[in-house]
Amino acid sequence: MAKILVVDDEAGMRRILDVNLRRDGHVVVQAEGVAQALELLKREDFDVVLTDQKMPDGSGLDILRAVHADDPTTSVVFLTAVGTLELAVESMRHGAFDFLTKPFVPDVVRAAIGRASERTALLRENEALKTTVRKLEGADEILGQSAGMCAVRELIGRVAPTNSTVLITGETGTGKELVARAIHRNSLRASKPFIAINCAAVTETLLESELFGHERGAFTGADKSRSGLFEAAHEGTLFLDEVAEMSPAAQAKLLRVLASGEIQRVGSTVTRKVNVRVLAATHRNLKERVRQALFREDLYYRLAVVPIQLAPLRERPEDLEELCRSMSHRIAEEMKVPTRQISQAALEKLEHYEFPGNVRELRNLLERALILGKSPELEPEDFILPSNASAHTSGAGNGKVEALAAQLPTDLDLRETLMRLERCLIARSLELAKGVQAEAARRLGLSRSDLGYKVGKYQLGGLVAERSANAAIDRPHPEQASSIS
Ligand SMILES: Nc1ncnc2c1ncn2[C@@H]1O[C@H](COP(=O)(O)OP(=O)(O)OP(=O)(O)O)[C@@H](O)[C@H]1O
Ligand SMILES: [Mg+2]
Repeated sequence: MAKILVVDDEAGMRRILDVNLRRDGHVVVQAEGVAQALELLKREDFDVVLTDQKMPDGSGLDILRAVHADDPTTSVVFLTAVGTLELAVESMRHGAFDFLTKPFVPDVVRAAIGRASERTALLRENEALKTTVRKLEGADEILGQSAGMCAVRELIGRVAPTNSTVLITGETGTGKELVARAIHRNSLRASKPFIAINCAAVTETLLESELFGHERGAFTGADKSRSGLFEAAHEGTLFLDEVAEMSPAAQAKLLRVLASGEIQRVGSTVTRKVNVRVLAATHRNLKERVRQALFREDLYYRLAVVPIQLAPLRERPEDLEELCRSMSHRIAEEMKVPTRQISQAALEKLEHYEFPGNVRELRNLLERALILGKSPELEPEDFILPSNASAHTSGAGNGKVEALAAQLPTDLDLRETLMRLERCLIARSLELAKGVQAEAARRLGLSRSDLGYKVGKYQLGGLVAERSANAAIDRPHPEQASSIS
């Protein structure tokens, strides 16, 4: 079903077209001349315009021009009584989709309208896809203003247009694949395929056939010959992810391909030229693997022509804010939930977290917080960090202090809260130490005189055991000896 604008100065012609088109399920709007048609085109969107050529107030070409200026995906079909060849050619040259003559044959009009609306649908779908792709490309933007990430972006810019092999290293979730895709997108190969293979996810024998293809009968089950990923990536980029996991045999074959630019399918002696740029990535220390004789040194040097090292997120906390802001925005769009800013307290909580899963983990945390959180901003309690994760701690506690702080409201009286916290901790330590001040002081990392002062300040004397009763055990702890006065 299409929405069609019928333009003709003859009322009888408009009516009969209207009846015919409606019978086919189309929506029809009529205009009795050029002026009215232009008015309607300004206000409404049409899939097809079916217009007469010569009308008292102008010509079909005026309408064609207006349509093209406004929305060139709308298809214009001429239906004219003066069907000269010259006019037909002229109309088509101006971009008309079809040219029909009166008196019309209903089937001919029906077929023309069908083709015209199909063209419109295809063009619009293409526009929509382009927008999606543009959006996706934007989503692939590499974020972060830390010196490390700026250097990575600069390096990508310089290496992308070359054909150099690049080795991307970094912990899991640091953005290795993101970088590989950015290199491809910014290369002269951008319009050709980008093919990624995770070398760790394929068995040793299968990997060779995946990469290089195989001939029929090359191994059990190879009932057809098949091309491999090197051939599929011809003129494009092949991304070898987790390259450290390649078997020695596959490493040897890969080295030969990189050196010669030719592949041999498994089970074939025929060589085929391929033009493929190789990018590789690993979360391992590949140089160390070379030292341990687990990875070929010659292949290492072939792959690491340009090395790009991605720092773990915990080493660039200055990137957190931008990552949170941009990723929240994107996630909210994708998940169709309202986007929310991250509060200062939540940001601080994240800054103290180790992020073993790096940016991927941050993304997951944000996603959960955006979906489940209820406050106007993302607050510390919206981020449930794994309790056994080794958070940055300036002293004891292994992240427990941060976890505790995360549960407290942020609109509190800081001085009073700290004092109450201090009193609670001292009281608990004294109880655990059965009132022995030296033991409680050791637990708290305080000198005994400091503890004595605080016990007095917080009126906790009732928790202190009688000195005489403790005399035997009230001795400085070896580790605390220096601090005990
Ligand atoms: N600097 C960055 N800016 C924006 N998004 C990033 C950045 N780094 C990583 N990401 C995002 O984090 C996620 C993980 O990135 P990617 O898959 O590239 O990591 P990886 O290093 O290949 O991880 P793995 O070793 O586990 O395969 C992706 O969603 C990616 O878009
Ligand atoms: Mg990856």
